[in-house]
Amino acid sequence: MQQAIAVLDSGVGGLTVVKEVMRQLPREKIMYFGDTARTPYGPRPAEEVMRFTREIVDFLIQYQPKMIVIACNTATAVALDDIRSRVDLPVMGVIHPGARAAIGRSKSGVIGVIGTEGTIKSGAYESALRRLSPHVEVVSRTCPAFVPLVEDGNFRSDETFRVVTASLSPLHRVSMDCLILGCTHYPFLSDTISEVMGPDVSLINSAEETAREISTILQESNQLAGRDEVPVHRFFCSGEPWKFQKIAQAWLGQEISLTQIAWHAPHVGA
Ligand code: DGL
Repeated sequence: MQQAIAVLDSGVGGLTVVKEVMRQLPREKIMYFGDTARTPYGPRPAEEVMRFTREIVDFLIQYQPKMIVIACNTATAVALDDIRSRVDLPVMGVIHPGARAAIGRSKSGVIGVIGTEGTIKSGAYESALRRLSPHVEVVSRTCPAFVPLVEDGNFRSDETFRVVTASLSPLHRVSMDCLILGCTHYPFLSDTISEVMGPDVSLINSAEETAREISTILQESNQLAGRDEVPVHRFFCSGEPWKFQKIAQAWLGQEISLTQIAWHAPHVGA
């Protein structure tokens, strides 16, 4: 049986990475965990996010995936090194790929980062960006109201526009040419974010670069799915499966049957 790529997030945000993996690597089987009952992770203490991430990884590992993708910036910021030291599999986060994409794109060297409180407080993007380009100027901002909008499926409405405008208005004072969407939920709102930031600011979504890195890792370890594979993806969520299904179908543009979605609460045990 084909081994899956395990992808996890605090909720539906990691589906932005899944969509890109499906586009670039259509033969790969994906197993996704969205901790929709405990989202958002952003305002939670780092130790708690670390514990939740360990619980989810311990659960997913039972299905013997070939790699783990922490498709959550908040969890990547606090738990990537820890998970790498605990698991004997390739483990990827989304911060380094996002930082690399921004450095590749920015001409002015002034880069904005928006993310959750946990991600921005960790300074993980600044560190990743400065490791790649020491003189880059980084301007960061938290957008705590974005994740609840996405989890409610409210991607484009007057309310979304109002919230995005209010959250991003301080960034207009900065002459950045790139804005990193440093939370995997934010690409759901990218039309509105782009409208508010204007045409001179490129939005950086780490999903594309993350999928490219996944492909490289699998290629190097000779683990890419065979050409004849027709993958059946599996999804787990800790909240309402029907709610997850609605958002997943809308975002991925394909039918996801309820039989593909299982409810599981990692803290309640397997
Ligand atoms: N999607 C996640 C991230 O990339 C977490 C959002 C949240 O749960 O606050 O940070």
